[in-house]
Amino acid sequence: MEIILAKYAGFCFGVKRATQLAFEAAGKTSPDGTYSLGPIIHSPQVVKRLEDMGVKVLRDLSALDSGTVIIRSHGVTAAEMDEVAAKDVEVVDATCPFVKKAQEHVKELAADGYDVVVLGDYDHPEVEGLVSYATGRVHVVASAQDMAALPNMKRIGIVAQTTQSLENLRSVVSEALIKGTEIRVYNTICDATSVRQDEARTLAASVDCMVVIGGYNSANTRRLAEICHEIQANTHHIETVDQIESRWFQGVERVGVTAGASTPKWLIDEVMERISELTQDKKD
Ligand code: F3S
Repeated sequence: MEIILAKYAGFCFGVKRATQLAFEAAGKTSPDGTYSLGPIIHSPQVVKRLEDMGVKVLRDLSALDSGTVIIRSHGVTAAEMDEVAAKDVEVVDATCPFVKKAQEHVKELAADGYDVVVLGDYDHPEVEGLVSYATGRVHVVASAQDMAALPNMKRIGIVAQTTQSLENLRSVVSEALIKGTEIRVYNTICDATSVRQDEARTLAASVDCMVVIGGYNSANTRRLAEICHEIQANTHHIETVDQIESRWFQGVERVGVTAGASTPKWLIDEVMERISELTQDKKD
């Protein structure tokens, strides 16, 4: 049986950077404790490893007076950043630079008097962060239909959540042209998501079984699994190696493996090894 690992499986640039910064901070063992404001990335296994090294996940900053605080890859709100800055704590800002850029664009658009439109998922922490940087009017839309439901505006400034599709941004911008007299658009989409999805589509079409690795709380991993499942019914979304079942590989000649942008390499390696052991067992 052939096992094919997707070239872009696993960590994107921003998550890799955030994880490195978090493990470095954890390794320094601050005497006053090391904390992350929300889970550093959407991988329960990475969060658990950091917890084992003493990094505690905080829901908010109210009880914190000292120590080191790591800011997660998809950012926090402007108020939370201000709160952190006002405390006597060391800050490790692991916000992905692409997310940071999008936050700056929102701030700038609001300062220039635009009605800010953020294209994204209402309850995603990255969107909550982006919205918080607007000092004036701000609207969150998930689609062109949402944009169409907004009132007419004079000046519209558009920013997208980094994981949005270009197609969705295009349709929202088209709708905005009807709503406003002046439109300024920042294409803040990061292609890490689309690259992984395009590759998963191609891979799923060429194998008899797909294994998708990543946190169940990771939206990009869940989407990868959905895409693969639409093409290959024998698709399985797993978080850890012990969830693999040998029956998935019965009569299978080619297995494809991919992983979400927050899945660490060690988890991917474990899965690759386990699949190859199971295949070996069958031959013996
Ligand atoms: Fe950053 Fe793109 Fe990853 S925005 S966190 S590199 S998906």
